Amino acid sequence: MRVVVGISGGIAAYKVPELIRMLRKAGNEVKVATTKNALEFVTPLTLQTLSGHPVYSDVFAAINEHSTEHISLPDWADVMVIVPATANVLGKMAHGIADDALTTTFCAMRKPVVIAPAMNDKMYDSPAVQDAIRTLSQWSNITMLDCAEGELACGSTGKGRMQEVDVIYDAIQAALTPKTLAGKRVVITAGPTIEKIDPVRYISNFSTGKMGRALATECRHRGAEVTLIMGAISAREMYEQTMKAWETADIAILAAAVADYRPEVEFTEKIKKESQANTAMSLALTENPDIAAALGQNKRPEQLLVGFALETNNEEQHALSKLTRKNMDWIVLNSLQDKGAGFGCDTNKVTLYSRTGAKKDVPLQSKEDVAKAILDSIL
Ligand code: CTP
Repeated sequence: MRVVVGISGGIAAYKVPELIRMLRKAGNEVKVATTKNALEFVTPLTLQTLSGHPVYSDVFAAINEHSTEHISLPDWADVMVIVPATANVLGKMAHGIADDALTTTFCAMRKPVVIAPAMNDKMYDSPAVQDAIRTLSQWSNITMLDCAEGELACGSTGKGRMQEVDVIYDAIQAALTPKTLAGKRVVITAGPTIEKIDPVRYISNFSTGKMGRALATECRHRGAEVTLIMGAISAREMYEQTMKAWETADIAILAAAVADYRPEVEFTEKIKKESQANTAMSLALTENPDIAAALGQNKRPEQLLVGFALETNNEEQHALSKLTRKNMDWIVLNSLQDKGAGFGCDTNKVTLYSRTGAKKDVPLQSKEDVAKAILDSIL
């Protein structure tokens, strides 16, 4: 995507080079427009080097690519982000005041704009700033981020910090994603479950939850209301939460690696080595509930159930058998045989099978892009 990064004069501007680097690293094109004051906090050389383009900060400068840069930039861009947006700039933008490179560019921008305010907490709380924020938030092309709470540059603590760059980056992606899942509820399970042996030890697996999180993020970007169930919880806790969410969900995507068994007894005190009769120790296990199968049994016709299968051999056969056995609509097969796929990787390669016999290969790519491909296939 083509991003115009607009910078105004607040101390949080020191974080903007990191955002530009993130955007460029992900393959996006970046051009920068700033107020004069912004350049007191971050140098044009830094911005130019990282963005790969001259910085647009002086409306009357001879180096501008076009004499009407404030019109050509919005034409060029897919999205604009204003980081940080000071009280001054918010007030101007809300009222159509356009007297520098940043505000003239904003005024002509009809495509999505993400605004990340940052200022002293008392300024943020002022009626004038809150009015400007309310006005701007009503425009359909604007995503207004909240300020974060914490330590402020002026030494006080309060609500006025700019959101971290990864939150801003996420908001830019969300702003550009069509809301094809608006009004839909999606429940997603992700990561491993942990099954306690005693207060110190547990049984688990190597899943990290990256694929499930990528799916949750993409569903949220598409406008869905997402319930993500993951973390250090047991299969039984995951079962309860997922069953509850399923009652009102339209879609369930079960990416969690649920432990099939748990210790029959959970010891309340740490098991001591001396208490064992000999050098070998055995642990009795009992079966966990199968969340996917339970959802499949309680599935209404309009609900969509998507599962995962991680296999090491006879992959297709195992996946298809799970698809039928658990009454799923789609199953996403992961093979541990594939390089760059599986636990903890940033990439994945999967094959999807539907109950109606469709088959779709998704080649090796980032888990974020695999999440997009999975959603494009199942919806
Ligand atoms: N699953 C689940 N609850 C379980 C076990 C599995 O919800 N107790 C879900 C997984 O999240 C996945 C699908 O079922 O979406 C298949 O998981 P997998 O562990 O491959 O299936 P199992 O039936 O446990 O088969 P296996 O014998 O291969 O472990």
